[in-house]
Amino acid sequence: MWELLPPRVRLVGAPCLNERNTRQLAQDFDKFRNGLPRPLEAYILATYGVDLATEYAGLPVKNPFGKASGQLSLAAHQIERDAAAGLGFVILKTLVAQDPSGRQSMREWAIPETRMLVEPIHGRMGGEGWTVTWKGRGWFDSFVAYRHLFGQALNVGQASNMLVVPSVNYHLPGGKETFWKQEEYTFTTLRLFETWSEVCGDRPMPLEKDFSPTLAGNERATQQAKIAEWLQSVPGLIHRAAPGKVWVGLKVFNTLFDDHFQVQMLDGVHGPPAGDDRADFLVYANRLFDPAKEFEGKLGVAYGGPDLSHRNLAVLEKFLSVRSDADARTRQRDLVDHLPISASGDIHSGRIAAEYLLRGASSFQMHTIFQLPNGQFSMPTGSKTERALHRLLFHPQDGFIPWLLDLKETFGWKQEMNIQQMAKWCQNNWKNVEELTSEKQNA
Ligand SMILES: Cc1cc2nc3c(=O)[nH]c(=O)nc-3n(C[C@H](O)[C@H](O)[C@H](O)COP(=O)(O)O)c2cc1C
Repeated sequence: MWELLPPRVRLVGAPCLNERNTRQLAQDFDKFRNGLPRPLEAYILATYGVDLATEYAGLPVKNPFGKASGQLSLAAHQIERDAAAGLGFVILKTLVAQDPSGRQSMREWAIPETRMLVEPIHGRMGGEGWTVTWKGRGWFDSFVAYRHLFGQALNVGQASNMLVVPSVNYHLPGGKETFWKQEEYTFTTLRLFETWSEVCGDRPMPLEKDFSPTLAGNERATQQAKIAEWLQSVPGLIHRAAPGKVWVGLKVFNTLFDDHFQVQMLDGVHGPPAGDDRADFLVYANRLFDPAKEFEGKLGVAYGGPDLSHRNLAVLEKFLSVRSDADARTRQRDLVDHLPISASGDIHSGRIAAEYLLRGASSFQMHTIFQLPNGQFSMPTGSKTERALHRLLFHPQDGFIPWLLDLKETFGWKQEMNIQQMAKWCQNNWKNVEELTSEKQNA
């Protein structure tokens, strides 16, 4: 069983801001309790000189905040509200793949369950947060219904410049299985692309391959070699299902193995040269799994909160450290080709989003924040998505804008750099990130 180790690089204390920005943020946080400014990105650029433009899966998105796959992206009305609130992207609920005859090898992930318990959680290394507990897993309606939702969501997204992305749980061979059910990959991917192309034409479709956190407690995931084989094989299987049409993202899961193995997983997915066998982007990382926690008679559930961000941040920084040491040894820095990373896990403030940015994440996808009780937000009205964006962006101490202004100053980033460029810079300059942030931490 893994041990929870603290991340070294943290953003502590208050962001360092000049007087003008301090005043402006206090004013904006208060003023926008009644509704965010529109267009949001143009306002932030004009007022703070912060360009929120970035990428998800290598595709441009207007801002880095998105909704992660789950119970909050399985109906058209939810997507409409997200578009109105101003999210940059939405990942639909995970579909369990099927072959042409409707067979699903991962059907144990397609179970109906709606009751969710949203509760405070205390982190093992300190810190308070929230977690959602439930027994459900993937989409349990028909494939036809999923494609219908996908089509509706794409139309909504297109009208508001919000990217909409499907998520799929395809066959993964377990302990004794030595074969891959390719028909599931081919059939499901091609049908999804058909729906995508009806709205988006011939542009490649981004797709997240969900390695569910509940896999960690499943007998399929008890061998490290098996997990490594999955990560190695899945990109090729999806790419070859629809050649040139899909950009494959691996939503990496937190296994029951230690951080060293998580780093090996990240190393492994960066291994293949550009081509079908290489993923196009990563989502890091889905929730933790507690084999001992019981919920409504079920032993073993996924959980989030501070432990999740601690673990994810610690693993990502170890991965970047190992990489930059290797680069220094081989002097091949220019050859390093990091995959775009979309961060997931306990992003409940702009400060945490900025901590993922420091580890190279160019976008941030959330679930739990959109389920918090209304009393947790300073905005008294509006959808949860709008309330969350208000807090994530404008909070004077914990918001993304104040922390970006602070980081721009710390790293001497050029005024015109956008989020994507900042993320790239951090991926390629990890040693500088470590040095300059530790100077700040110790100041
Ligand atoms: C109730 C619930 C349902 C979820 N369903 C899915 C899912 O279907 N597919 C998936 O990839 N992730 C799913 N997730 C994981 C989230 O997408 C997200 O990665 C994770 O909760 C960490 O983000 P958070 O800390 O902001 O919640 C689910 C999470 C919750 C809480």
